[in-house]
Amino acid sequence: MPHIRKAVFPVAGAGTRFLPATKSVPKEMLTLVDRPLIQYAMDEARDAGIEEFIFVSAAGKGALEDYFDTAAALEMRLRAAGKVEALKALDCTRLPEGALTILRQAQPLGLGHAVRQAKNLIGDEAFAVILPDDVIKSEKGVLAQMIEAHRDLGGHMVAATDVPLSEISKYGVLDVASENGRVCCARGLVEKPSPHAAPSTKAVIGRYILERSIFDRLDALHPGAGGEMQLTDAINADVETVGVSGFTYDGQRFDCGSIQGYVQATAAFALDRADLHDEYSTFLSQKRQHLSLVA
Ligand code: G1P
Repeated sequence: MPHIRKAVFPVAGAGTRFLPATKSVPKEMLTLVDRPLIQYAMDEARDAGIEEFIFVSAAGKGALEDYFDTAAALEMRLRAAGKVEALKALDCTRLPEGALTILRQAQPLGLGHAVRQAKNLIGDEAFAVILPDDVIKSEKGVLAQMIEAHRDLGGHMVAATDVPLSEISKYGVLDVASENGRVCCARGLVEKPSPHAAPSTKAVIGRYILERSIFDRLDALHPGAGGEMQLTDAINADVETVGVSGFTYDGQRFDCGSIQGYVQATAAFALDRADLHDEYSTFLSQKRQHLSLVA
């Protein structure tokens, strides 16, 4: 049995940066090539052996819930028309009965508050948290990489990567005590520090493995950076007792919560598709040539 079986997906965010698209479409339903961001997150979780999926959602996210529901009328139509390939494309949206639970975060009080909503569903086991905005392109899924490393280590574990100092204030940041290969041991974490106050350039990326004790810390949490209840602060409070490690994953991460990251991810995933690669890369190089001519 995998030792991490449950994953929490905070999906309540408004996606203001993607207005007007997110006026009526949840940001997790924005599409990279032909599948929404949430599908990439779910695939990564399933590949890592996750069996129970908990969405912490909000009002206006109905499309997200429908996406993982059976679409009986659509399936019937496709079957009648003999559209076997189209039917097959829906396979990845099917989940075993009872595998998905959707909770509501009544108020947008921060990531720590969102994760706390799952307290009663987690039980006494370590669990994963996946932020679908962070899409990571890798051979082996990042959560699977982390679960393997966590098996020996235990404690809280966050995905980590080095970012330029000029970007550091967008992230939770690790105060690194020691480093051994892909794993570093943290003596502290700070949410969105200014560049001069940042303890390192090792940023937290949206994959976490958390021990049950995190809920005690979340219960005692006060608003932190930006006036929000920060998951980073709850993890930081467990540094001495539970232990916190950062895992430098193998993969390329795209910040799909920003338009720049989203557009880059679209290009990277399109170029990776055998059926799109040739035409798309020809298009891109023609575009580049045209730009250098007009420059
Ligand atoms: C959240 C976390 C932050 C982390 C980041 C990764 O911030 O609070 O610690 O570094 O995700 O994407 P947000 O992007 O929601 O501001």
